[in-house]
Amino acid sequence: MKTVKVGIIGCGNLGKTHATCIAELEGMELSAYCDVFETSAQAMLERFGGDYATTDTDRFFHDPSLDAIYVTTQHDTHADYCIRALEAGKHVLVEKPLAMTAEDCLRIGDAVARSGKKLFTAFKMRYYELLWKAKELIPQPVMVTMQMMDNRWGNASWANDPVKGGGNVLSQGCHSADILRFVAGGDPIEVYAAGSNYYQPTGVVDNMAAVFRFDNGTAGNLVQGDAGCPPLTSKFFMQLFAENKSITISDRLTTLTYTEAGKEPQVFKGTESGFMEENKAFLRCLQDDAPAPIDHVDGLYATLMILQAFESLRSGKPEPIKSVVERAVSAGSGKVRA
Ligand SMILES: NC(=O)c1ccc[n+]([C@@H]2O[C@H](COP(=O)([O-])OP(=O)(O)OC[C@H]3O[C@@H](n4cnc5c(N)ncnc54)[C@H](O)[C@@H]3O)[C@@H](O)[C@H]2O)c1
Repeated sequence: MKTVKVGIIGCGNLGKTHATCIAELEGMELSAYCDVFETSAQAMLERFGGDYATTDTDRFFHDPSLDAIYVTTQHDTHADYCIRALEAGKHVLVEKPLAMTAEDCLRIGDAVARSGKKLFTAFKMRYYELLWKAKELIPQPVMVTMQMMDNRWGNASWANDPVKGGGNVLSQGCHSADILRFVAGGDPIEVYAAGSNYYQPTGVVDNMAAVFRFDNGTAGNLVQGDAGCPPLTSKFFMQLFAENKSITISDRLTTLTYTEAGKEPQVFKGTESGFMEENKAFLRCLQDDAPAPIDHVDGLYATLMILQAFESLRSGKPEPIKSVVERAVSAGSGKVRA
């Protein structure tokens, strides 16, 4: 089977995290590194090996030897870099969020449809075992609550910059939105949100509560922010409810307690892992030419769940999600995905 040659654009923390995984994978080979800072790209070439390091994005995207491009830059560059990679005929793995505006989400949907290439959205939390266990125990929840509450993010972090990052609620909220949709087992029709910029000096939305109405009838809510990590629930905390059944997943989603009326509670333990698993899954779908297990549609849903929640903060009304994703997915293909 052909070795997949990879280029990474964005040679910071997550560029290195993915490179560390790729270096361990048989069937994938690191070739090119691109960054605005030559020294960052060069440092990765020296550490992981490969063919070249560059600041020249034209050289990088049009390198005919590259099969796949990892986009691990800051958020404002994701949409353009994904589109350039797809248009150059490359498969893409992109870190969340997919984009910072609904318009850019539509452009990405269009580029995927036109290129026929795969776009894998990097949602490592999808590989946490206990989320799969939760789906097995309560496949059709009536209600799901997801809370991700971090310690306060630093004022100077690029992720808190309204242009480059969009703040904690957009950045980490995409993970929360994705796993909320995953365990809800349906697609969100609309969202109503309350929240604000409470203290971050950059003006980004720093804390938000949002309610989602899913197409299978499930009601979901999301509490997302960086006001302070609660010691009892931990940073990541989820609950699922169905008639006479409930699940609580605490300890950063590594302890699941299942209760069913009239029975003893059952406790399951899991791990927090996902980077290696998502890289393996990306490689597998390229080698088998199979659909990406977490594709651009998943990325569009998670990103638009947050962006449309922001829209709801502005409008004071519920805002659509599913119809916007359908527009994005059908943009270049001329049809609405079932
Ligand atoms: N999945 C996760 O658990 C997880 C965790 C942290 C970060 N992330 C995501 O990973 C991505 C990168 O975050 P990070 O923590 O590695 O940030 P980082 O600041 O460590 O790295 C970003 C890199 O991109 C480079 N860069 C910036 N603008 C560029 C441009 N226009 N062209 C080329 N390179 C450019 C920077 O110089 C830097 O080297 C973000 O999307 C972030 O949300 C994901």
